Amino acid sequence: MKNVLLVTYSQTGQVSEIATRLVAPLIEAGHRVHTECLQPETPFPWPWRFVDFIDVFPECVQLDAPPNRPLGIAEHEEFDLVILAYQVWYLAPSLPMTAFLQSAAGRRLIAGKPVITLVACRNMWLTAQATMRRLIAEAGGRLIDHLAFVDRAPALATFITTPRWVLTGRRDAFLGLPPAGVDEAEVRSARRYGEVLNGALAGDAERGSGPLLAGLGAAVVDPRLIISERAGSRAFAVWSRIIRACGRRGQWRRRPALLLFAIYLVLMILTVVPLSLLLQRLLAPLLAPRLQRLKQELERPSGSAGWRVSEDVR
Ligand SMILES: Cc1cc2nc3c(=O)[nH]c(=O)nc-3n(C[C@H](O)[C@H](O)[C@H](O)COP(=O)(O)O)c2cc1C
Repeated sequence: MKNVLLVTYSQTGQVSEIATRLVAPLIEAGHRVHTECLQPETPFPWPWRFVDFIDVFPECVQLDAPPNRPLGIAEHEEFDLVILAYQVWYLAPSLPMTAFLQSAAGRRLIAGKPVITLVACRNMWLTAQATMRRLIAEAGGRLIDHLAFVDRAPALATFITTPRWVLTGRRDAFLGLPPAGVDEAEVRSARRYGEVLNGALAGDAERGSGPLLAGLGAAVVDPRLIISERAGSRAFAVWSRIIRACGRRGQWRRRPALLLFAIYLVLMILTVVPLSLLLQRLLAPLLAPRLQRLKQELERPSGSAGWRVSEDVR
């Protein structure tokens, strides 16, 4: 029987619920699963006040995370597999997950261990996952699988429904737009990965180089988002440095720069994003080979192929 560590941070419970469904088959099979819900020393608000929501941006991008409370794990406890379930904040892992990966305790737990990442967010997880991949490698962990759960509603609808959810706490359908977040059926589908993972653990497959969850359509990259994410992450790097030069988180003196950033963000979403989608459609024949190559690279290690989906997994 294996000793599995699930590390999660979720504000609404969406990420945790997906992760719980993933590990349910392992628990039923008798494996020990220790769940560690990260707790920042100073909790982040839910729903977010607009000013706090914008103010957290520079530190997310620059990976300057405030500390979490100590973990509830005995100092010398060893795990056979670590699962990191996280959300994306400003194209970066959420600050509590970043803090975990940078902490001495987090790095010790990951060193030399196979790691599975699970992300649930609006739809932009590529840059955040590249950061997760780097931090896991720096801690000496081996990323063997990645599962991505996103809001499948049209991108333009989610530009309204996600901020509404985050800023008001309301995720229901409104004005003809679909509810915010990962669809309920998709949340439930996390179990099928757990079934396959269970079979793999029975054969000690986590000791190999992985992936264990290939062929299940675990990480599907929308090639149209690759260019938007790259442009966004470059702009975010510049803006986050400018804002931090004006003051620290919570200080009034950086608020003018934060306001300018908020205006920039809205203008970007209203102009550059639709324009870039249109340009990509027009240039599709030219861009397709390169985007296809990048798509395959970004979907590693688990990939988007679905050749095992019809296997007998509940
Ligand atoms: C400060 C903040 C920034 C966010 N930035 C992004 C983002 O860049 N990309 C994205 O896909 N989702 C983003 N989201 C949405 C979250 O990834 C997530 O879906 C949402 O907060 C619900 O997570 P939870 O249900 O686990 O609490 C952001 C949310 C917050 C609070």
